[in-house]
Amino acid sequence: MPRSLVSFLPFSLCLIGAAGIGTFDVFQRSCQTPITGFLFCSFSVTKNWDFLKFREWSDSLPGKIKNVELYIKCESEASVFLPWPVRARSLKVFDIQGCLIQGFYDEYQTAANYTDSIVDLKIANCVIEENQNDHIHRSLHESPSRSFACGQESVVVWDIKNLTWTFPRIPVGPKAHQNQRIAPYYSCNYTHMVYLEETFQYIRENSSVATRYPVLKVATFSSNNFSSVPEKGRNWPSHFPLLEVMDLSNNSIGHFQFENPIENHSLYVDLRNNSVVDVPTNMTSYLMETRAIIIDLRHNPIKCSCDLLNFRDYLKQIQTRFPEWKNGTRVYCKTGGEQTLTLVTDLTSQSCENL
Ligand SMILES: *[C@@H]1O[C@H](CO)[C@@H](O)[C@H](O)[C@H]1NC(C)=O
Ligand SMILES: *[C@@H]1O[C@H](CO)[C@@H](O)[C@H](O)[C@H]1NC(C)=O
Ligand SMILES: *[C@@H]1O[C@H](CO)[C@@H](O)[C@H](O)[C@H]1NC(C)=O
Ligand SMILES: *[C@@H]1O[C@H](CO)[C@@H](O)[C@H](O)[C@H]1NC(C)=O
Ligand SMILES: *[C@@H]1O[C@H](CO)[C@@H](O)[C@H](O)[C@H]1NC(C)=O
Ligand SMILES: *[C@@H]1O[C@H](CO)[C@@H](O)[C@H](O)[C@H]1NC(C)=O
Ligand SMILES: *[C@@H]1O[C@H](CO)[C@@H](O)[C@H](O)[C@H]1NC(C)=O
Ligand SMILES: *[C@@H]1O[C@H](CO)[C@@H](O)[C@H](O)[C@H]1NC(C)=O
Ligand SMILES: *[C@@H]1O[C@H](CO)[C@@H](O)[C@H](O)[C@H]1NC(C)=O
Ligand SMILES: *[C@@H]1O[C@H](CO)[C@@H](O)[C@H](O)[C@H]1NC(C)=O
Repeated sequence: MPRSLVSFLPFSLCLIGAAGIGTFDVFQRSCQTPITGFLFCSFSVTKNWDFLKFREWSDSLPGKIKNVELYIKCESEASVFLPWPVRARSLKVFDIQGCLIQGFYDEYQTAANYTDSIVDLKIANCVIEENQNDHIHRSLHESPSRSFACGQESVVVWDIKNLTWTFPRIPVGPKAHQNQRIAPYYSCNYTHMVYLEETFQYIRENSSVATRYPVLKVATFSSNNFSSVPEKGRNWPSHFPLLEVMDLSNNSIGHFQFENPIENHSLYVDLRNNSVVDVPTNMTSYLMETRAIIIDLRHNPIKCSCDLLNFRDYLKQIQTRFPEWKNGTRVYCKTGGEQTLTLVTDLTSQSCENL
């Protein structure tokens, strides 16, 4: 591609002229500009890396920058100074893996001074470093800016896996009071998001900010050690009116309840690998003429009893109405002391008495 080479050369020369400072050289070496205005940067961090310097550098670039993609991978123990919500000039793709994140709260109360630009956000296997006293102080005395609390509302794919903190979080009571006093002073509206994933995050901040995802199709909250369905999931039509799949698998959920879907809309809820013992006895109410909630309860310690007859009817209706979900209806229940498994769809009003 000779054309891209032509555009790359004067650009690099220009940079050397503009910022001969050593720290900027590393950015220049790690970024490519195959097309004018498009910047692809990939860093393999062995010790530390500073997002603020990167931002300063990208601000200093001449000409129009349309699209920046930033990929960061840390070797063990490497750290990155990274204030949430990662705002920088035209940053469209942000992908970070395996880093210790410092300065996460640096812009906690800062208003957004770069427009929302991130489309693809990926954070995996990172740890946020935070001082416990700062955490308590912030919880008691500070409120996040809208920019911090909502993050970037331009995101289409939000994929956060295994993001943890350096110390165990204690829920701080008064924070809720403070929030209640001023809340709701803003709401977050993720108008483009279609995929939301937050998994392997055993502890999370409890935010009372109202959120809305008008076009979200898939929400994944698998493997979070949840003991109940989160509020967003229960009242899903008000947060995710167009949701098609909600993955709550591999948690410790014992009881569940969902709002009914809106007209002509069906939702598949994955509740596999949870702790459901007693299935609600009104499961068939989730199946209405023009809408349905299909709940996958495989791999739960369900107790056999005649209370499951409604659930049996529910599974049979799914088999007829939604043949594509037939596999999900192979749900077993357990009988008392014996570890005998019985297929729920095989239960009859006679056989359930003897289990
Ligand atoms: C945005 O705010 C940060 C932190 O207050 C500041 O360092 C930076 O210069 C600001 N950027 C712009 C473009 O105003
Ligand atoms: C989560 O990330 C940590 C590093 O921060 C890693 O050691 C651990 O194996 C990850 N856990 C999972 C389940 O991926
Ligand atoms: C969210 O944004 C959309 C499009 O910008 C707008 O139509 C809708 O009213 C907003 N909803 C809320 C609750 O702010
Ligand atoms: C989170 O906050 C809501 C409302 O502020 C509250 O009802 C709920 O119990 C809290 N959840 C946890 C796990 O603290
Ligand atoms: C389920 O969660 C456990 C820990 O809670 C984890 O070790 C396991 O990898 C998870 N399985 C899947 C398929 O996500
Ligand atoms: C999961 O939750 C239980 C109780 O709710 C707790 O005892 C346990 O430590 C949690 N597991 C992890 C990996 O956080
Ligand atoms: C259920 O848990 C087992 C063991 O942790 C794991 O192998 C399996 O993949 C999990 N299934 C789902 C759907 O999370
Ligand atoms: C639901 O779908 C049926 C047939 O597909 C249609 O006749 C009906 O008008 C739809 N109702 C709504 C509220 O969209
Ligand atoms: C099932 O019953 C519970 C409690 O009686 C109720 O809150 C819930 O709305 C019912 N579910 C459906 C789908 O009707
Ligand atoms: C259903 O189960 C069968 C056999 O266990 C398998 O071959 C098939 O791929 C499954 N279908 C789906 C949609 O998972």
